[in-house]
Amino acid sequence: MTIRALHVASELYPLLKTGGLADVAGALPPALIERGADVRVLLPGFPAVLAGVSELRTVAQLGRRFDTPGVTLERGTLESNGLIVYVIRAASLYDRPGNPYLDDQHVPYGDNAQRFALLGWVAAQLAQQLDPAWLPQIVHAHDWHAGLAPAYLKAAERQHGRALARSVFTVHNLAYQGIFPAHQFGQLALPDDFFSVHGVEFYGQLSFLKAGLYYSDRITTVSPTYAREIQTLAQGGGLDGLLRQRAHDLSGILNGVDYAIWNPAADPLLATHYTATRLAGKVACKEALQKRFGLAQKSDTLLFGVVSRLTEQKGLDLLLGAVPEIVKRGGQLVVFGTGDPALENGLKRVAHAHPESLAVELGFDEALAHTIVAGSDVIAVPSRFEPCGLTQLYALAYGSLPLVHGVGGLADTVLDASLENLADDLATGFVFERFEPAGLVAAIRRAFALYGRRTEWKATQRRAMRQDFGWGASAERYLALYRELV
Ligand code: ADP
Ligand code: GLC
Repeated sequence: MTIRALHVASELYPLLKTGGLADVAGALPPALIERGADVRVLLPGFPAVLAGVSELRTVAQLGRRFDTPGVTLERGTLESNGLIVYVIRAASLYDRPGNPYLDDQHVPYGDNAQRFALLGWVAAQLAQQLDPAWLPQIVHAHDWHAGLAPAYLKAAERQHGRALARSVFTVHNLAYQGIFPAHQFGQLALPDDFFSVHGVEFYGQLSFLKAGLYYSDRITTVSPTYAREIQTLAQGGGLDGLLRQRAHDLSGILNGVDYAIWNPAADPLLATHYTATRLAGKVACKEALQKRFGLAQKSDTLLFGVVSRLTEQKGLDLLLGAVPEIVKRGGQLVVFGTGDPALENGLKRVAHAHPESLAVELGFDEALAHTIVAGSDVIAVPSRFEPCGLTQLYALAYGSLPLVHGVGGLADTVLDASLENLADDLATGFVFERFEPAGLVAAIRRAFALYGRRTEWKATQRRAMRQDFGWGASAERYLALYRELV
């Protein structure tokens, strides 16, 4: 039996991306389709989405919704792979330059509740045959932006007195909870009793994330360790109680890598290609990176790279404290990212103090991300918490040994170069357990020590590159979940 599933998300690579959610939304649907499912995606009509989807045709006129006139649902395809995409056209909500969530002062748009309620509402309409030609059996909503989809579905089921599509809600990051003042509940057109502890209410406010967790039929998150962590008081963000109650409906399914995009043997964004057995090209990539960032062109310097959103989550404050350790040992560090202005300024300041060894660039650029992942010897991901993390998976594929904090998906995907793991041919990177300077510095020292033993370093690189984190196994697990539900 072919299962029809609608994925609901706010970003999708290659159309629009601020982080790993876009990579997942871009790669998981095709992986499911390859395994026989009939999957389509629903996105808000941000300018980059409208510009990137081909052959857009109107599916339905929705009139005035959430105080917004002239809303329409359109359907088109992605040229790269033929994926069918539904797009909500609502110019006054979505036609804004820049970030999909924040204005140019980094402040969330004042009407985010309406902007993303519309996304969830349209998903529930599609489950009521809004498109005469296609009816999903599964609505798979991603993160708080799509969190109201399961709530609107439950409301519609009550109204029709029969079951509609089953819903899956995937938490990519519990730290973003989509919280709004209680008075905005009235604008959402949900039944009054949904504003309750047993519903969307969260400490007197309204939470889209909680709606997804409460009303979905199944909850997944993006790694097994994170699935356990979020059920604890310390890491549950106030939702651990609900998550524990729903523990039997909650599972962790690791994200995958799209090796059609992240493969050093064929990556069109690289200066030179290389493979696990022919690593020479990686040296050329390192030289290109040093040159790009104005660092000394030395091939035997241990080069650390960071590609990251600059938020508290990512732990770069801890890494900044360890810069003297890297400099003292003759290493180099490249940091590329964008985000929190305070972190951006802090990074720039430290870079100023160490111009030969530390280069910081602010911005978001897919090509530069590939250049750094390929050209670095080590990719650092010292996150305080990390639901899955894709950067360390890309680093493994590129033989750039990940240096990570042992939490969430980082703990599930990187094995430390301890003596035992090296002896057992298991090591793939460097893992520190406690989020403290001493732990990070010790991991940095392990990286320098291994780099000094070139044969073992190369063996570890090759092992890293041989790891298979493709979407196959994870797509199968999502399919199994869908089958259980329908
Ligand atoms: P998160 O989703 O929390 O940001 P992930 O590691 O899952 O973390 O995914 C991050 C994704 O965003 C990766 O594809 C990474 O390459 C990309 N990325 C992060 N910062 C930048 C940037 N400044 N420029 C280009 N790509 C970036
Ligand atoms: C979130 C998480 C990250 C995860 C990504 C995709 O942004 O921070 O860990 O890899 O979503 O699931």
